Amino acid sequence: MSFVVTIDGPAGAGKSTTARAVAARLGFHYVDTGALYRALALKVQESGVSPDDPAAVRRCIESAQVDLSGSPDHTHVWLDGRDVSREIRTPAVSELSSRLAAMPDVRARLVETQRALALRGPLVAEGRDLGTVVFPAAEVKIFLDASVDERARRRARDLQERGIAASLDEVREEIVRRDRRDRDRAQSPLRPSDDAKVIDTTEMDLEPQVEAVLAVVTAHPACPRVEESR
Ligand code: DC
Repeated sequence: MSFVVTIDGPAGAGKSTTARAVAARLGFHYVDTGALYRALALKVQESGVSPDDPAAVRRCIESAQVDLSGSPDHTHVWLDGRDVSREIRTPAVSELSSRLAAMPDVRARLVETQRALALRGPLVAEGRDLGTVVFPAAEVKIFLDASVDERARRRARDLQERGIAASLDEVREEIVRRDRRDRDRAQSPLRPSDDAKVIDTTEMDLEPQVEAVLAVVTAHPACPRVEESR
């Protein structure tokens, strides 16, 4: 396995923007693990399968092919050979992906996919359980957090920029609901691993966030130098 940086945290804590920027600056791959959960959720949604029927969900996702490609700035998410990068960002898919993420079958299916992605080279991966479950031996583990209100504001702005309509109240409700489900689930709940560096980004702009994470990563003695990576 290559040099792995994990960035975990709740929705809207700044994981994606920070992870992308850090990966771009270091020449590492960027792995958005939430996108994999979202792609499976899209498959379940399109198949008309009820998320309350675990056996039907398992059958639906068993043969699904999910993959990521592109650069940190232009990531593509693939489901069965189709580029679903945009479709997976709707509030309905957010909600469904969080429900599916509580199912052991779904998690087991995606742990392998995530570890396989780490064979491609040094990477910055973002998610919920990367430091605790998927990459317990990662060289660098970061946990980003921020207040619910700030996270809702960032999420609403992000959706607006993508042209997806959603009010701030709706986004806040969705975040609170997802937080609770992600934190309370029995399987791989959202929490910082004991050896993670926790950074609260509530009062931070993007650049200081990126600098803070970069400082931790580049201080690691095994961190590949830029010219050595990719
Ligand atoms: O990061 P995101 O909002 O795109 O993730 C969508 C959902 O996927 C999130 O509510 C929880 C789930 N998820 C997870 O359980 N574990 C991960 N490593 C990544 C995402």
